[in-house]
Amino acid sequence: MRLLATLLPVWVGLALAEDGSRGWLRYAPINIEGYSTLEVPSTIVALNSTKTSPVFTAGQELQKGINSILAKNVKVLATGHSNTSAIIVGTIDAYTAVYGNITDTESLEDDGFLLHSASDKVVILGRNERGALYGAFEYLSQLARNNITAGVQVSNPQAPIRWTNEWDNMDGSIERGYGGASNYFQGGYVVDNVTRAAEYARLLASVGINGVIVNNVNANAALLSDRNVKGLGRLADAMRPYGVQLGISLNFASPQAALGTFDPLDPKVDAWWANITDQIYKKVPDMAGFLVKANSEGQPGPLTYNRTLADGANMFARAVKPHGGVVMFRAFVYDNHITYANWTSDRANAQLEFFQHLDGKFDENVVVQIKYGPIDFQVREPASPLFGALHNTSTAIELQVTPEYLGQNCHFVYLAPLWKEILDFDMRTDSRPSKVKDIISGERFKRPLGGYAGVPGAGTNTTWLGSHMAMSNLYAYGKLAWDASLGSEDILQDWIRLTFGFDQKVIDTITDISMKSWPAYENYSGNLGVQTLTDILYTHFGPNPASQDNNGWGQWLRAGNVTIGMDRTIENGTGNAGNYPPEIAEIYNDVDKTPDNLLLWFHHVPYTQRLKSGKTVIQHFYDAHYEGAASAQIFVQQWESLKGKIDDERHEHQLFRQTYQAGHSLVWRDSITQYFYNLSRIADESGRVGTHPYRIEAESMTLDGYKSYVVKPFHAASGFTAIVTTSNTTAGTATAKVPFESGTYDVAVNYYDLFSGISTYTLDIGNRTVGTWKGDNEKKLGHEPSRYLDGHTATRITFKGIEVRKGDVVRITGQPDGIEPAPIDYLSFLPPGIAD
Ligand code: GCU
Repeated sequence: MRLLATLLPVWVGLALAEDGSRGWLRYAPINIEGYSTLEVPSTIVALNSTKTSPVFTAGQELQKGINSILAKNVKVLATGHSNTSAIIVGTIDAYTAVYGNITDTESLEDDGFLLHSASDKVVILGRNERGALYGAFEYLSQLARNNITAGVQVSNPQAPIRWTNEWDNMDGSIERGYGGASNYFQGGYVVDNVTRAAEYARLLASVGINGVIVNNVNANAALLSDRNVKGLGRLADAMRPYGVQLGISLNFASPQAALGTFDPLDPKVDAWWANITDQIYKKVPDMAGFLVKANSEGQPGPLTYNRTLADGANMFARAVKPHGGVVMFRAFVYDNHITYANWTSDRANAQLEFFQHLDGKFDENVVVQIKYGPIDFQVREPASPLFGALHNTSTAIELQVTPEYLGQNCHFVYLAPLWKEILDFDMRTDSRPSKVKDIISGERFKRPLGGYAGVPGAGTNTTWLGSHMAMSNLYAYGKLAWDASLGSEDILQDWIRLTFGFDQKVIDTITDISMKSWPAYENYSGNLGVQTLTDILYTHFGPNPASQDNNGWGQWLRAGNVTIGMDRTIENGTGNAGNYPPEIAEIYNDVDKTPDNLLLWFHHVPYTQRLKSGKTVIQHFYDAHYEGAASAQIFVQQWESLKGKIDDERHEHQLFRQTYQAGHSLVWRDSITQYFYNLSRIADESGRVGTHPYRIEAESMTLDGYKSYVVKPFHAASGFTAIVTTSNTTAGTATAKVPFESGTYDVAVNYYDLFSGISTYTLDIGNRTVGTWKGDNEKKLGHEPSRYLDGHTATRITFKGIEVRKGDVVRITGQPDGIEPAPIDYLSFLPPGIAD
């Protein structure tokens, strides 16, 4: 039920500048005509006055939220008479001690909450303190969305483990993080100022996250020094009022320095871990547990001593058991030196090879943490077969909120639909319903533990993740970890209301962009299950399909002149399709039954193979890349249409990113289509690939102080060639006569913005300066840097509505800086409605 839904809302506060630091917890003031402040009780009773308790936090949060949303001052008391109008928040036990028994609480589980809303009385109860805080956040969210549900609601989380894995390094950087430096570490130590840690815990708690692993899975043994263990205590203290427990990643070889060994079956090693674990629990008595990446990508592990991964995991399990801790042991174990020439070798088989035979051998407090797909957070993967294969082991899913392979928050991709496809996927283990979400909740195989690990990459940037829109992913992660049956679009729209307000156009537009964002990105970065066609050996950002084949990493395309795709069939290929339970194996093993969007994941086929859509594989590639890039252009117009409807600060910040994405999507489109045209020599039926009638190639212009430069990979430059200045210090110019008919054009310049060096460019047409700009994206975008002219640095800037006469002289002047030789690829004179 909506409170006073018939009254017209008048939203205020749009003029305020917003830097994103409050995320979705803005508690934006709403002024609803006739909205009587009497509708919300004037007193809050928080049934715990200990300042570090989540119930105390709940009281403070309710006070702050109501004050901000409704401009109403409410007082917080520790007790109150049962007849007074109040919001009462606390545990069931605390409530019954004061007010006597209450009904409807029988079904409440740990962390769950009961929320009973009426205009004169609101009761918010948790089985534990954390649950009460979650109930308070839910009430505030409903208030902020003007969508109070009257009556009794009971909400329980589907799984006990709802953690984030922050990949923060002790030097203060964040692996795969695009939102600034670490909130937790600097210069090798835990930071002194834990304000951000507390603010982040608040955001996480508001969506039901109950644990944070604060350091990178590629862990540093120096975390265990006395000074840092004390620091961990400080971080845990900052997060505790929000019910968020701290956990840490461990380096398996940590005892090596002291003992000369890290053999998990050596009693000395066991004792060493038990001791250090006890020390940590002295400082962090409620530590959630450990996360371990072992024998993966160069990390040490038990296999060094011919011990099993279970031997390794159980050693930590024994150490944390007396303290009630959990060990999350990652299934991301694979050999990164497999043989490309061998058509049966397959990295996607590694998880099963390493873990299936260990099923049932892990201690009860071990959870095997499995990435959603068999390889590594690609734009599309099937669900990992390991979910269906471990029946006597608790499991959790690992989801990457930080989109390492999906545009690094410089492209926007709303990830909930991708996650939902995996969570809703039915493994059909033993021919029974076996959805991934029911496996990881512990329900399907009757396991005591299980849940979710999300990798957000949150940093010190005021936006947390580097982009305002990306915060929908963190929000959705928490919501799905609580209840995977929620719809992607419903979650999104709640987030939009909380983040940007209630304007219907804002809601519709952001919904549309978001729901189209994954298909668009998949279309221009890697379709048909071929994986994200990025540079897997370097930045994981821009296009470079050739980097995937011919090496030991196993993210292969097996793209040849005639055929493409991994043969994962049982009879002829790597056998991976047979890793799934029979009903699923039968589908994936059969080229005719495999869905188009996973065709090249499971099958090696000719480029001329017909899809279910009737198109050939190669034509689908061409069309999809053009469609995806075209969507990215429309997103810009859609975002522009929101000007004035959301605050300028966030509007401009996101507009810059959407514009960048639109330009880079064309780089992706041209690169990938050109690459596959070159391999297959099959022409695009629509004649687009390699045909660019609106371009002037920079290398064809008259150059002064510039020279031609052959770009590698070849497809990262239009016509394979760009220009660079001949010196590191002196400006160069490139001039040409405009060969196009007189008219109004959007003039685009494609250049390369290298990390290090801020070149300056000026574009003149017919003796008028059309624009100047700097190659300074390294200051504005947080993606992995590149120092080369390549698919990562290729960038577009567009000047709109420029009057041009045929024969005008167009001149670009580029001033190099540092290692950046003011590189330019081409200019486009685009008639209205064309993007090329
Ligand atoms: C990916 C990622 C690494 C990360 C690894 C992991 O490979 O690129 O940065 O360490 O996954 O999840 O362990």
